[in-house]
Amino acid sequence: MLRPDEIPAHIGIRREEMEVTIPSADGKRISHPAGKSPRIFADTGSIDEIKPLFEAGIINGVTTNPTLLKRAGADSLATAKRMMKEIVELLDPYPVSLELTELTKDKMIAQAAELASYGPNVVIKVPTGGYSAIDPSYDEHTGLKVLYALWEKDIKTNATLIFNSTQALFAARAGATYVSPFLGRVADYLYKHDEVEREIGNSLYFMEDHKGGKENSRVFNTSYVASGGARKDSGIRLIHEIAVIFANYGIKTEVLAASFRNDVQVAESLLCGADILTVPAPILMRIASHPLTSEGMKAFVEDSKAFDK
Ligand code: E4P
Repeated sequence: MLRPDEIPAHIGIRREEMEVTIPSADGKRISHPAGKSPRIFADTGSIDEIKPLFEAGIINGVTTNPTLLKRAGADSLATAKRMMKEIVELLDPYPVSLELTELTKDKMIAQAAELASYGPNVVIKVPTGGYSAIDPSYDEHTGLKVLYALWEKDIKTNATLIFNSTQALFAARAGATYVSPFLGRVADYLYKHDEVEREIGNSLYFMEDHKGGKENSRVFNTSYVASGGARKDSGIRLIHEIAVIFANYGIKTEVLAASFRNDVQVAESLLCGADILTVPAPILMRIASHPLTSEGMKAFVEDSKAFDK
């Protein structure tokens, strides 16, 4: 777990300035006690996974991506579109992130307009970078340019595939409504490439180190926090850095922690100041319960039988 002295206390101040996310339905009721709480989204393309969580009030948003839609059964563009529309309609007015799959600026902006037409609650998910990895002739900064163009059009955006805090800052400066740091993939990466002697760096930056040579050319954070007691997770630090930077400069772009692998990361993201957590449905279903809650409940029900006589 995070050590107590690693838990930042000041980040909460920033939420005071954020929009109320659970407004009262009418003026007569007392205002909601968790009106400015972080929001929980489901990270899935499956309407069957979304429904029970939405009905329980656990989630008030959804994030999808091509991988999640494929996993949920989309085997054609037509099916993917139908599935996305169904989710958007169910969630309305809560946000649903739909990811762009085009790779050049004009096509991406046109695709964003089409996706946005599915409903007023659509958020356009824009890959922040990686374009030149697909084709060296593509502009690596396409994502940032598209984010800015959509900001100019008042279209909400989610800058995805964020792996360090400066990418997050660039996306915020491009006008992103949300940034999505992938903490689980950072944790996976660090688990595979653990080299304890390099205890420097913060979120996942790549640079040449003092040893030189390609194999040793990465510098990363190895200050581990928990993953069910195992020493394999420091992705949470990425969330912490971005939350602190945004707090330092009053940036209103929301930190949407993504790519969860386990229950502990959920609690730690909340401790670190994430504004929104998008979590796979199986984890959300699981953490609503606790064995001691079940045990306690059984005892209450058993003891209450004494009043039946
Ligand atoms: C975020 O919005 C992404 O859909 C997601 O969290 C990616 O997670 P993964 O690393 O499990 O694919």
